[in-house]
Formats: sequence, structure tokens, C-alpha cells
Amino acid sequence: TITGLLAWEALDSRGKPTVGCEVRLDGGATGRATVPSGASTGRHEARELRDGGARYGGNGVRQAVANVTDEIAEAVSGLDGTDQASLDRTLRELDGTPDLGRLGANAVLAVSVATAVAGAAARGLPMHEAVADDGAAPLLPLPMVNIISGGAHSGRSIDVQDFLAVPVGADSFADAIEWASRVRAGTAEELVSRGLPVALVADEGGLGPLLPTNRSALDVLVAGIERAGLRPGDDVGIAIDVAATQFVRDDGRYVLATEDRELTADDLVEELAAWCAAYPIVSLEDALAEDDWAGWRTGTERLAGRQLLGDDLFVTNPERLQRGIDEKVGNAVLVKPNQIGTLDTARSVVRTAHAAGYATVLSARSGETEDDWLADLAVGWRTGQIKVGSTTRSERTAKWNRLLRLESELGDRAEYAGRAALPHAQR
Ligand code: PGA
Ligand code: ZN
Repeated sequence: TITGLLAWEALDSRGKPTVGCEVRLDGGATGRATVPSGASTGRHEARELRDGGARYGGNGVRQAVANVTDEIAEAVSGLDGTDQASLDRTLRELDGTPDLGRLGANAVLAVSVATAVAGAAARGLPMHEAVADDGAAPLLPLPMVNIISGGAHSGRSIDVQDFLAVPVGADSFADAIEWASRVRAGTAEELVSRGLPVALVADEGGLGPLLPTNRSALDVLVAGIERAGLRPGDDVGIAIDVAATQFVRDDGRYVLATEDRELTADDLVEELAAWCAAYPIVSLEDALAEDDWAGWRTGTERLAGRQLLGDDLFVTNPERLQRGIDEKVGNAVLVKPNQIGTLDTARSVVRTAHAAGYATVLSARSGETEDDWLADLAVGWRTGQIKVGSTTRSERTAKWNRLLRLESELGDRAEYAGRAALPHAQR
């Protein structure tokens, strides 16, 4: 039973305020969570509450914190801390808006996750086990690791947001991380050899070079994989988060500022198809913008054979995912708990996706915290894939390190998803 809530204003990895929360249960168990925050947020995401005014440039979260300790605390006190579904239902009903904008999705998620952490402690279970279905084996995810950043995460050095390494040939999670780390180092070497500086890291720990074109990031990454002594394609595939919502214009055209080009949705799909023909690309995220359903339908057909992952498109929203399934758009969903605001709803998105044959990638945000519960969600929910940034910066390594420890601790009791986590066509 929930007996008390504490909340405070904390900082995320960009130094921006965020909500921290501690939930106390009657047996003495406690759980803490500090929630992340995006920079390239989708229009259809749940809404964070920010104070405005002068503190922290208007980004303070004192009102969200007060909502936790006043209204939410009163509503959830006495509820069963191990019944996530009814807790989350209570939180949604209390807020009363579809985007949780009244109490703040940051306030609501902090309570939702902290309660899950406390509930696991009360049951004496590691969190991955507490959130798993009965009898489901823990599944260590295939990591998608940020190597080169652009877009909103690196001062728009290039338009495309992320170029990632997917170590599809590795036999264990630990090997996959070691390979990704080597690829990051090899890519840095390649950039240096081209006379480009690599000392600065982007928001997710990736390299943020000033490249002449978006496509040239692929050349650099392939060279980086080779410098790492690995085979592009067989050992390490490439994933791209185009984050096209960030550069679509109101008239539906896509503007590649780096290259001074304007593309229609069809042009963009053809450009990406050309990249897929020339490089070992296994996954494309947000290839089209969040409301460009027609473009997405074209892209899903034309780029078939790759993982086509919806982030801003689906925003971890059950209705938007269902529309995608009905209209045969994409074949995978990025799952970010803070896009929807409650753990149970994020969980339902994973279930719906799997039932429809869609792959799932659990994802951190570009503004993260030192928490590691995301790793446990990936393992317990059997998402198959995870994306938390690069192999540097502690808010990133907190998640990798939790997974490394779980792999070591669980041994034969856990499976490693490996390349089989990609949608069927790509295996
Ligand atoms: P965000 O970026 O957290 O800034 O939205 C992550 C992503 O687009 O996948
Ligand atoms: Zn994205």
C-alpha cells in the first residue's frame, strides 16, 4: 500500500529541470525515479508541465513537483503499490486530459515509475522480473548505439539526427557493447583522418562532426566499422534516425539545410532507398514526418526489408500505433514511456506491437537521468531492442551497465535477442 510520496526538482543530463519522485509503501519498501525529457519531441506526445517565468529559463518544474506532493499523493495514498494498471488508471483519470497536460506527464510518469520500482522492492524481486509476465524468460535486448549525431542533438551540424551501430553479428550483449565501443573509436579515428574535430560530444554521447552532406556520415561510419576490425553488414549494421519531423515544412516539403535541398516526401523516400542500396542499413526511424501518413505508406512499401521504426509517428500511443497497424505503416515502434506518461500504457503498446508482428525498441530520451530502470523494462517486457545513446556519458552507461550486470548475473536464465529482434524481413 502506498503511504507517501516525495518529489523534488532535479536536473537531467542537459542540465534542465526534471521531476524526481520517491514512493513509500507500508512495509517500508521505497522506489525512486527521475524522468527524462526529449529535444526532438513529437507534437502528439504527452505534455510536460514547465513553470515558465525566470527560473531555469522557464523550464522549472516546481508546479509539477507540487502536483505530485499534493493532488497525486492524496489520490494514490492507500492504493496497492504492486498493481500498476490500477495505479496508472487512477493517475490518468485524476489528470483528466488525454495528454496529461493538467498535472504534467513529467509528474505522472515520475509517480508511475517510482511506484513500479517500489513495488518490485516490496515483492523482493529485481525490477525486470517484477514487470515481466508470469513465466516469461528475461530477454537481453539487441542494442542500437549512437555513433554520429546531428539535428537537434548536435546544433544541427547535419540534418539527420542519429547514425547508429547495430552489432547484429555479436553473440552476447557484452560483445555487442564492446563492438559498438570499438566502432565509436574507429569512427572518431576516421573523422580525425579527414581533419574533422572530435573532442565535443553530442547530447547522447555521440560524435557531432560538421559534415558536408548527410550521406557522408554513412561513409564515415562504414569506415569506422572497418577501422574497428569489423565487417559492415555481417558484424555491424547501420540504423538511422532521420527524425524527419524536425525538417519538414508546413507545405509538406523536407528541407535538408546542410545540402541546401528541398525534397518532396517521394524524393526523400528515393534518397533513403539509394542509401539503403549502398550501405548496410538495417533500420530507419522517422523516415517521414509525424503526420505524413501518405509519405509513410509510400516509404513502407519502397523501403521494405528494413526495420521501419515509428517514433514521432506513434509516440508510444496505442491509438496511433493501431492506426499504423491498420494502414500497414511501418513495422516497428519506438517505445518511450515519457511520450505517453504511464508505464502500463507503454507496456500495452509493446503487447499490441508484438501481437501485430511489429518489432519494439525501448528508448531513452536525449535529456536523460542516471536512472537505470529502462534497462529492466527492456528485459522484463522482452522488447528485443534498446536505444539509449552512445557508449559515453554516464546517463547512457547507467543503462548499458545495468544490462551488462544482468547478463552476467542471469547467465543461462536469460536469452540474448541478437539480430532476431529485427523485423522478420531483415533477419
Ligand atoms: P529526443 O530524441 O529524446 O530528443 O526526442 C530521441 C529520438 O528522436 O529518438
Ligand atoms: Zn527518434
